[in-house]
Parts: sequence; structure tokens; C-alpha cells
Amino acid sequence: MKKIIFDGDPGIDDALAIMLALQSKELQLIGITTVAGNVNVDRGTLNALSILEYLKIENIPVVRGSEKPLYKELETAEFVHGQDGLGNINLPSPKTQPIPQLASEFIINTIKNNPNEVTIVATGPLTNIAKMLTSSPEISNDILELIIMGGAVNIPGNVTSVAEYNIWADAEAAKIVLESDLPITLVPLDVTTSFRLTTANLYEIKKANTPISILISRMLPYYIEINQKLRNIDGCYIHDALAMAYSIDPTLFTTEMMGLEVMVNKNEEYGKLIISKEKPPLKICLKVNSQRFLRFFVDRMIK
Ligand code: BDR
Ligand code: CA
Repeated sequence: MKKIIFDGDPGIDDALAIMLALQSKELQLIGITTVAGNVNVDRGTLNALSILEYLKIENIPVVRGSEKPLYKELETAEFVHGQDGLGNINLPSPKTQPIPQLASEFIINTIKNNPNEVTIVATGPLTNIAKMLTSSPEISNDILELIIMGGAVNIPGNVTSVAEYNIWADAEAAKIVLESDLPITLVPLDVTTSFRLTTANLYEIKKANTPISILISRMLPYYIEINQKLRNIDGCYIHDALAMAYSIDPTLFTTEMMGLEVMVNKNEEYGKLIISKEKPPLKICLKVNSQRFLRFFVDRMIK
């Protein structure tokens, strides 16, 4: 089993990524660290704890992470994910508490105790990961892989015309991480927006009537409706689930090695990624087999 630390800002699609990990026997979810992004970090931490409690999962530590980006003001996205971050389903408040530790410290300690065994799946702004790298630069020798949902490589962004939300929300952190020598795989909008989860997929999930399928069928209607309103599309993108899927079955994706520069000047290019031969090469997913992915995802959500 691959040991996974999930670092994200739950968030509807972050929640889907967590559930995909829980449903995958190939993975052992050994910790969840939260970061301010889609919602503030307290809300995101409550969401992670509530999801685990709702699914009656015990013994996965949840650590409350960075409450704001490194330098920039926090800009949350409740209009996309609902006031509670989970499609306004108001899950009961959790009884469990986060572990009182810095997220970056938790990640460093876990990696040092399991050298070359830990994969981080990061699905929010990269603030915690940048802090990890700054305080422990040698960690790159001990991480198995860092899989990041973020960025737009050959297509326009989703928050500005050139930038994707996770990178734009803390581009200074993204610069530290993406221009480092960490063993990174990037799962950008190029693949996550190449197909959508449809209402027919959602109906199939709902019919399974398991705790996970019930949770998904409560969360997703809001997300589908907002996608329809904001982008005039049917169905919804489930970005973060693709990053978790990569950790399970990388053959779903076609990748290329490229270096990327992250633009951090405070102008209209803030958060843009530029392909660069000068930067250390990272693995970038540029295509996904969407039919195979959807079957894989729905099957795991209904079992
Ligand atoms: C990313 O932004 C967030 O809103 C989603 O959770 C995902 O991680 C997509 O741009
Ligand atoms: Ca996210």
C-alpha cells in the first residue's frame, strides 16, 4: 500500500479526492493536512474531520495548516463550494479535534519516519508544502512523490485568463515548490477540465446508497448547479479527484517532463505558469483517458 498524506482545502472536489483514497486498497491515507483556500482553514479542517466522522473512519490524523498564503491576502471560493465548502449540506460538527501541530512539521516528521515511502497529494494552495520545503530543504531526498492538482499549462486559467486557482491563491508558495527539485507530478486544468462528471454519473453513484454515495449525492447538486450558472456547462469538473487517481493508476494519464516558471509579479500574469528550459523538469499530465477515469472513479464510489 502506498502511504498518502492529503494536503488540501476541502472543498467539494477535495472531499472527493479524500473519499477516493479511502475507497482504494492500493492507498493508506496516513494524514490529512489542511490549508486556507476554497474556505478558511478552520472550516476546511472541520470539513475534513466531519467527513471522516460521517464515514466512521478513525485513526487518520487531521492537522490544521496555514491560515493564509505566504504574502498575499486569502481569497476564498465559497461561491463555488458553498458557504460550508461542501455544497451547503451542513454536516454535523465533528467531535474529534485536529492534532495540535504545524502542518509543515507533521509532513516533515511523517516523511522522515518513512523515508521514500510517502506520497503527498496536494489539492489546495501550496502554502504548507512551501513551508515544509523552506524549513527542511533536504526533504526532497526522502519524499516518494508530490502530486499536485494545479495550474494551466497549454490552456487558459479558471480564475484569471492565465491562472488556475491553487497556483494563483498563493503563487509565491507555488514558485518555491514548482521550481524546486522535489519529485513532482502536476495534474493541471489541461486534464481536469477535459471531461466532466455528469448528472447520469451522479445518479449511478446515488443508487448505490452507501454512506459515501449518499454524501456525494448531497454535495454535488450545488456544485453542478453553480457550474451551470458560472460556466454554462452540464456536470462538473472534479479536479482534485484526478490528482488522487494519479497516485493509484498513473496509466490513466499521458505525461511529459518540462520545467515551469511561476509568475509572481503583481500584474495580470500573477499565477501564470510558463514552460521553461531553465527550471528543473517536472512530470506534467497533459492527457487523461476520460472514459476509463470516469468508470474507475464511479466504480470506486459505489462499492
Ligand atoms: C482547484 O481549485 C479549487 O477550487 C478546487 O478545489 C481545485 O483544487 C481547481 O482550480
Ligand atoms: Ca482543492
